[in-house]
Amino acid sequence: MADTKLVRLEKIGAIGVIVVDNPPVNALSPGVPEGILECLDAANADPEVKAMVLIGAGRSFIAGADIRQFGKGRPRPTRRTHDALEASTKPVVAAIHGYALGGGLENALGCHYRMAVVSAKVGLPEVLIGILPGGGGTQRLPRLIGPKAALEMIVSGRHVPAEEARGLAILDAVVPADADLRAEAVRFAERVADKRPLPRVSEMTEKLAEAKREPGLFDAMRKSIARRARNQKAPYNCIAAVEAACTLPFIQGLQRERELFEELENSDEARALRYAFFAEREAAKLPDIPAKTPVRAIATVAVVGAGTMGGGIAMSCADFGLPVKIMDATPEALARGMERVKRNYETSVQRGSLAADEMARRLALIEPVAGYDDIGGCDLVIEAVFEELPAKLPVFAELDRVMKPGALMLSNTSALDIDAIAGATKRPQDVAGSHFFSPANVMKLLEVVKGAESSKETIATAMAFGKRIGKISVACGNCDGFLANRSRAPFNSEMVILLEEGALPEQVDKVMVDFGYPMGPFAVGDLAGLDIGYAGRKRRAEANPNYRKLPIADRLVEMGRFGQKTNAGWYRYEKGDRAPHPDPEVARIIKEVAGEMKVPQRTLDDGEILRRLLFSSVNEACQIIEEAIAYRASDVDVMWLYGFGFPRYRGGLMFWADGIGVREVYNQIALWHQQYGERWAPSPLLRRLAESGTPFREARPPAR
Ligand code: 3HC
Repeated sequence: MADTKLVRLEKIGAIGVIVVDNPPVNALSPGVPEGILECLDAANADPEVKAMVLIGAGRSFIAGADIRQFGKGRPRPTRRTHDALEASTKPVVAAIHGYALGGGLENALGCHYRMAVVSAKVGLPEVLIGILPGGGGTQRLPRLIGPKAALEMIVSGRHVPAEEARGLAILDAVVPADADLRAEAVRFAERVADKRPLPRVSEMTEKLAEAKREPGLFDAMRKSIARRARNQKAPYNCIAAVEAACTLPFIQGLQRERELFEELENSDEARALRYAFFAEREAAKLPDIPAKTPVRAIATVAVVGAGTMGGGIAMSCADFGLPVKIMDATPEALARGMERVKRNYETSVQRGSLAADEMARRLALIEPVAGYDDIGGCDLVIEAVFEELPAKLPVFAELDRVMKPGALMLSNTSALDIDAIAGATKRPQDVAGSHFFSPANVMKLLEVVKGAESSKETIATAMAFGKRIGKISVACGNCDGFLANRSRAPFNSEMVILLEEGALPEQVDKVMVDFGYPMGPFAVGDLAGLDIGYAGRKRRAEANPNYRKLPIADRLVEMGRFGQKTNAGWYRYEKGDRAPHPDPEVARIIKEVAGEMKVPQRTLDDGEILRRLLFSSVNEACQIIEEAIAYRASDVDVMWLYGFGFPRYRGGLMFWADGIGVREVYNQIALWHQQYGERWAPSPLLRRLAESGTPFREARPPAR
C-alpha cells in the first residue's frame, strides 16, 4: 500500500485532484510514484470523476526523481507513471508551479494537457547529474516540440521559463502569478472533460519530420558540444536517445532510452555530478550556526571601490534587482568604474545575452555617490579597494563612522587578515570577509570568511546575501588565503616548480585541459595578470624566510611579461588576439633560471604533472580541515568547482582524490616529502585518514 500522505486524491465536483505532497520539492521518492498510480486508478474507477488535475503541494510541482535513490539498485517499476497518466481514459491536466524538472516534466508530458503559472520553470536537467531523462522525456519532448528544440533543452539541461515553454508548445496555457492555479486547472479540466480523442504525446509524429528534413542535426549537435562535453558520456547519450525518438517507434524508443540511461546511472561521471549536487547544498549548512539564526534584511548595498572587482560586485547586486551605491576615492576613478560597468553590460547586449531595456534597468540600480556620508544608510557595505591592509584599514575606520548600527560590513579580500580589518572598527561582530572571484559578476562562488568576532547573525546574513545575488556561498575561517586561495596556492607553486625540472607551460596546460579544465593554469595566469601573483609572493617572502620562492615566475614579471595585457607572459600573444602561442623565449628563460638554480632538467610524464599539481593541494586542503578553517572536504570541492574551473564531472578535488584512494595519495606524498623536502610534509589529517582508511570526503576537523 502506498503512503497516502505523499499523494492524495481530492474531489472538486467532477474533477479528481491528485496532490503530490512530498516536501520540500515533491521529488519522486519511494511511495510517490505508487501514490500517483493509486490515485489515478481510483479516479479512473470513480464514475463521478470526469477529468483529473495533477498538482504539487507546497512550493513546487515535481522537481524530478529522488536523486538520493540513484546508484542504489532500485527495483525497476512494472508500471510507470508517465505511461499510466497518458493511458488514462479520462483527461489529466498537469498544473505546474515552481519547478517541473526531470521526472516531474516527464510526468507532465504523460498528461494530456499542461498549464503553469507564469513564474514556473520546466526542464529536463538530468544531463547535469550525468544521466538522461529516463522517464520517456527523450521520446515525448521531441514529438511535442520537435527534435531540435528538444535536443537543445535536454543537452543543456536548462530551466525554461513558463512563457517560453508555452511558445515551444510544452504548455497549453499560462496563468498570471497571482492566479489560483488549482482553481484555474480545475476549470481547465472541466472544459476538456468530454473532449475526445485525448491528445497523447506518444502518438504525435508531425514534429519528428524535422529530423528527416535536416538529417545532419544530430551530428551537428555532437560537434557543437565536443569541447564542452569532452570526457563525458551523458550529453552524447542524450543526443542518441533523441535520435532514437526520430528513428524508432515510440515503444522501442522508450526501450532504447532505458538502455542509454542504464549505461549512465552508475558511471563515474554520474556519481561525481550527484556528489557535486549535494555538496553544493551541504555548503549552506554551517554546523556552528543554527539554521534558525536570524538573518538581517538587506534591501540596499554599498560598494567602496569602483575598480574591476567593485564594479563587478555592484553588477552582481543589480543583476538580481538590488539597488547599490558605489563610491571611489576620486570622481575620476568613479567615472572610470561606471564606464567599465556600462561597457560590460553593453557587451552582453551586443552578444544578445541581455536585453537593452534590462541593461537600462540594471544600470539605473547602480548609483555612483560622492563619498562615505552617502552610504551610511545602506544595510550592507562591501569594501573592494586595493588588496593591502594599509589601504583597507582606513576604509573600515570610515565605515565604522558612517554606517548605521547593524549594517553588515564585508571586505572583498582574497587573503588578508579579517580580524585585523575588523579591528579597525568598534563593531567587529558586524565584519566578515566576502571574497568574490573575478570577474565578480560572472563567477558564481562567494567565499564567506568568519572573523574571530564575526557574529553568527553576520555570517548567516552574508551567506543569505550571496544566495540572494545568485552565488554559491561557502563559509570558512580566517587564515592567509582563506580556504580557496590557500588550498590552491601549492598548485600554483608546483606548476612553476615543474618548469624548473623540465616541463614547459604548454605541456602542463595540455595535461590540465585534457583533465577537463576549460583553460590550462599558465594560460589562466596570463589572463589574470602575472603581476598579481608576484606582489603576493613578495609579501609572503617578506613575512616568512622559509617561503619557497619561484624564480622563473619572478623573472618573467621583472622582464615586464605581465600576461595578455603586455602581449607576453607564459605565452606570446599577437596584438588584439587572446590565443596563447608557445614562446621559445620562455623556454630559454626557464632553462637559464633552472641552470642558475642548479636543478637538473628531465622529461616529466603527464601523469606525474597531474598528480604533482593536484596532490599538493589535496595535502594543503587536509591541513586546512585539520585547522578547522574548513568545515568539511566537500566545501573544498565546491570552491574548486565554482572558483577554479575544476571539471564538475570529476566531483571536485577531494572527491577526485578519493577515486585514487587515500592510502595511495598519502604514500605518494610521503615519497615526495623525502625527495623534495618540507613543502610535501603530509598533513597530520592526511596521515590519520590513510591509517584509518577514511575517505577524504568524510574528513572533518578534529574534535576540540
Ligand atoms: N532529489 C532529492 N532531493 C532533492 C531533489 C531531488 N530531485 N531536488 C532537490 N532536492 C533537495 C535538496 O537536496 C535540498 O535538500 P536539503 O534541504 O536537505 O539540502 C532541498 O531539496 C531543497 O533543494 P534546493 O536547496 O536546491 O532548493 P532550491 O529552491 O534552491 O532549488 C530546485 C530547487 C531547482 C528544484 C533544485 O533543488 C534542483 O535543481 N533540484 C534537482 C532537479 C533535478 O535534477 N531533477 C531531475 C532529477 S533526475 C530525474 O528526474 C530522472 C528521471 O528522468 C528518471
